[in-house]
Amino acid sequence: MGRRPFIIDCDTGTDDAIAIAAALYCDEVEVKAVTSVNGNVAHQYTSRNNLNLLEYLGFDDIPVAKGAVHPIMENSYHADGTHGNTGLGCITLPEASHKKFDGRIASQLIYETALEEKGELELLVIGPMTNIAIMLLEHPDAAQLIKHIWFMGGAAVGGNVTTTAEFNIWIDPMAAHIVTQSGIPQTMVGLDVTTAAAMKEPHSTELRACGTKAAVLCADLLDYMFERRDKGGEDALMHDAMAFAAAVYPDCLECHDYYVDVECFGEYTKGHTMVDRRGKKGKAPNVSVALKVDEDKFCRWLVDTIKKSAG
Ligand code: RIB
Ligand code: CA
Repeated sequence: MGRRPFIIDCDTGTDDAIAIAAALYCDEVEVKAVTSVNGNVAHQYTSRNNLNLLEYLGFDDIPVAKGAVHPIMENSYHADGTHGNTGLGCITLPEASHKKFDGRIASQLIYETALEEKGELELLVIGPMTNIAIMLLEHPDAAQLIKHIWFMGGAAVGGNVTTTAEFNIWIDPMAAHIVTQSGIPQTMVGLDVTTAAAMKEPHSTELRACGTKAAVLCADLLDYMFERRDKGGEDALMHDAMAFAAAVYPDCLECHDYYVDVECFGEYTKGHTMVDRRGKKGKAPNVSVALKVDEDKFCRWLVDTIKKSAG
């Protein structure tokens, strides 16, 4: 069986960058493209971060495309308090010297790749879902061409932007509504599990000792997160890498199928992922929701996967 074709749609972002590194070196998948969306920081940064990252790590042949600069439903909010002004914390990657953006916009590149992969394409969606929703609106047949969406977003309980909404969903709730209702098989990796597993200093030390560009970059990103944590900020949570783990290392998670939809309005509930665990809506499950994680297994897998950059 060949490697599973993936496209990563992201708002790179410190934890996005670590998830991208894991996917690039995971021998089970083939990253067909990386596309950017407005999210953690403005799109001018998320897009450049992807281009710089792929060139820095030597993946000149993987297309990098720009995507939506605004959500479908406007929410002018960036998480630079968590990811720094440009999205990669205190890390500055060398500006790409030869790699260029693909000429297509994200939604078109994803659709054309889905056609080429004849229904085998999987999407790792680790930012607001704007690009995916646009693709579905532009190409109604796209829903039949995507094998599975693995997304970081939402929460069965709680939120991190409001008490009821997680960042990726809150930024563009209408996009998340369109995607969750699309009929595409999908797995939600939300705060229920991503806040239950944090990387620790020994993980950074091990990655730095590995010595590859990818491993040292991830160690630098983790060290930035530890500093952020020690100042009272977010812990070294691997939100996005855990969505990738759901795809290639499901043994570290416990998932259950539920009907899920997204609240798009509401003073207190905009961006809430309604996970119908009591079956009150009487609708068939449409999302597999991760509710438990084995922290040690997940962190071990992530370090081992990034260390595969050593060949
Ligand atoms: O809420 C966490 C999510 O928001 C992660 O994807 C992080 O990168 C930010 O985009
Ligand atoms: Ca992200």
